[in-house]
Amino acid sequence: MSTKHVSAFLGDDASPEVMAPTIEIIESMNLGIQFNYPLVGQAAEQAFGTPLPEDTKRAIDDADATLFGSTSGNSTAALFYLRWGKQTFANVRPCLWQPGYASPMATPAGIDFVIVRENLEDLYLGLEGDIDDLAALNYYSRHARANLTDLGPGKYAIKAITERGSERVIRYAFELARERKHMKKVTVTCKYNMLSTADGLFLDTAERVAQEYPDISFEHFIVDDFLCRMIARPQDLDVVVTPNLYGDILSDGAAGMIGGLGLAPSGCYGEDYAYFESAHGTAPDIAGQNVINPTATLLSAAMMLDYLDFVEAAKHLRRAIAAVYAAGTTLPKDQGGAATTKAFCDAVQSQLAQL
Ligand code: IPM
Ligand code: MG
Repeated sequence: MSTKHVSAFLGDDASPEVMAPTIEIIESMNLGIQFNYPLVGQAAEQAFGTPLPEDTKRAIDDADATLFGSTSGNSTAALFYLRWGKQTFANVRPCLWQPGYASPMATPAGIDFVIVRENLEDLYLGLEGDIDDLAALNYYSRHARANLTDLGPGKYAIKAITERGSERVIRYAFELARERKHMKKVTVTCKYNMLSTADGLFLDTAERVAQEYPDISFEHFIVDDFLCRMIARPQDLDVVVTPNLYGDILSDGAAGMIGGLGLAPSGCYGEDYAYFESAHGTAPDIAGQNVINPTATLLSAAMMLDYLDFVEAAKHLRRAIAAVYAAGTTLPKDQGGAATTKAFCDAVQSQLAQL
């Protein structure tokens, strides 16, 4: 068995409270995974005078994958490196309801879809500034019937959709639909009516790629209409692919439907790298209380196990988590139970021991 190396960042606020026991559980599975903990943020500043030292980048590069704890700022430099530095363009966010999850939906059974979010472009390029700086471009808005600078002082943000960026994430979604063997369907969503050029390119690209996958059915909805459908008939969805910001928003909404962000894992994949992180934030309001739900992080770790080719171990971990929810006696607070983070993780451990 060859050793796999994983870089881990414990994250900010309540995040270490779910990261540490997750790593403990993975270590207890004896898969030969070696975790290392590169410095980032304040600790790196103190040691190296920079929040993201070369050593940390190298540790990420040399690892087979990274497990990333949510950041509220301190470890953001590592997150940006993991996304743009490592070109992890496909952010995969499964939305699966299981018995025991405290869904607000009347009939959550059968909710089993995946949002594939483009992870690098759209409004996430960080290209913002003063509208005044665009004066030389002499932009005329048909809708506002005015030049951009006539609107008065303000700020702009650039949304860029590229053909290459769209194509690779859309292709990823079609491949995933094939692999899942669920409904063999890809749903594309964006605002191609109002943003007919930029989001229009995303849709056109999807229509082109769809031709290459005659075995996968393909549909598209404008994002507002899609959201209504996602809530009304989530069971109709299989793989959903969407530009970055819509994916950010829709995936939190999808998590809300199955029982909240505490249950929502996430994996970000590039051509030759991947990192795994819960979709939720750092939960500063409950930091230090040992009550944060570790499920999202555990399920993200299961996605990492799949990626590292520990497919059986990933199945075991998922089965153990599902068994704890199905039993319903050791549920975390956000799922209507009274279990601490530690009690929940202990229950997962003991299920694992029985498998
Ligand atoms: C997420 C988060 C991030 C995002 C933040 C922390 C930058 O909300 O992973 O969904 O918007 O991508
Ligand atoms: Mg988000």
